[in-house]
Amino acid sequence: MINRITKAVIPAAGLGTRFLPATKAMPKEMLPVVDKPAIQYVVEEAVTAGLHDVLMITGRNKNSLENHFDRLPELEALLEAKGDAGRLAKVNASTDLADMHYVRQGDPRGLGHAILRAKMHVGDEPFAVLLGDDIIDPRDPLLGRMLDEQVKRGATIVALLEVDPSQISLYGAAAVEMTDDPDVVRITGLVEKPAVEDAPSNLAIIGRYVLRPEVFGILENTAPGKGNEIQLTDALQTMAVTPEETGGVYGVIFRGRRYDTGDRLDYIKAIVQIAVDRADLGPDLRPWLREFAAGLEDGPVETSPLD
Ligand code: G1P
Repeated sequence: MINRITKAVIPAAGLGTRFLPATKAMPKEMLPVVDKPAIQYVVEEAVTAGLHDVLMITGRNKNSLENHFDRLPELEALLEAKGDAGRLAKVNASTDLADMHYVRQGDPRGLGHAILRAKMHVGDEPFAVLLGDDIIDPRDPLLGRMLDEQVKRGATIVALLEVDPSQISLYGAAAVEMTDDPDVVRITGLVEKPAVEDAPSNLAIIGRYVLRPEVFGILENTAPGKGNEIQLTDALQTMAVTPEETGGVYGVIFRGRRYDTGDRLDYIKAIVQIAVDRADLGPDLRPWLREFAAGLEDGPVETSPLD
C-alpha cells in the first residue's frame, strides 16, 4: 500500500547517564554499534520505510549528531586522493541518507515534551516516531507495516512486543482486544511503566510509533506523569479512549529481531548479535566466540580492575 506519510521524528535529547563517563562529552546516540553510530541504524530504518524527512530532537552537547549527517569535505578529499572508494562510500552514506532537520528540546521534560517540539515541523499530518535505543533488524521490517496499518485504519499505531512479565515495568504496557488480524490489536488502555502486579498485559510498547497529529493538542494538555515527565504513553491513553475524535490506537505486534542499545549489558549483546551476522566479521567472530564461551568457567570470577 502506498502511504502518504513522509516525516520521521527521532528524539535524541537524553543525557545518556547509563553510559557515563563515555557520554560525558559525547551523545549516547553516537556510541558505535560495530562501526556505525547507533543513531544511523535508526535513520536508515526510517528512510527504508520511505520517510526521507527526518527531524531530530536534540539538546546541548549533541553537535556531533548534526556533524555525522553532514558533509566532511576534508575527509572526503583525503579518501578520494587515496583512491579509497570503499571508505568514501561509508563516509558519504550518512551524508546522503535523509533530509535532516534539527530542533532542540531545551528543558528535557520527558518524551511527550520532546515530541511536542516537532509540532511546527510536522504540521497537520500523521508522522512516525522512532526512539534511538532500539535497532530493528532490517530482515524483519516493522515500520512499513505500521505505516500501512495507519493508512488502512486511520488510527495511531504503536509497536508492541511480548516481554517476560517481570520486565513490563520498564515499558509502556497495553491493554488490548483482538482484531481479525493476528498481528494487530486494538488498544483499550495504556500505562507507563506499571508495577508488575498492575500491568494490564505483558505487551510492551517498543520505540516505534505512527502518530496522528491530534497528539500535539493532547500532549499540550497532558500533565506530568511517571517521573514527573510529560509522557507520550499518557497522551496515547487519552487517544485510546477517545476513538471518535482521535481515531483510536492500534498495536502491531512485532515478532522479529530487535536489539536494545539502551543499557550497557543490552548494548554489548546488540553488538555481538549484529556482528556475528555480518559478512565481513561473522566468519572470524563466530569461532572465536565459541572458543571464548567454552573457556568461561563456572565458579568465582576474578574481578578485573579494568572497569
Ligand atoms: C519510553 C516510553 C515507554 C516505551 C519505551 C520503549 O521509555 O516512555 O513507554 O515502552 O520508551 O523503549 P524510556 O525507555 O525512554 O524510559
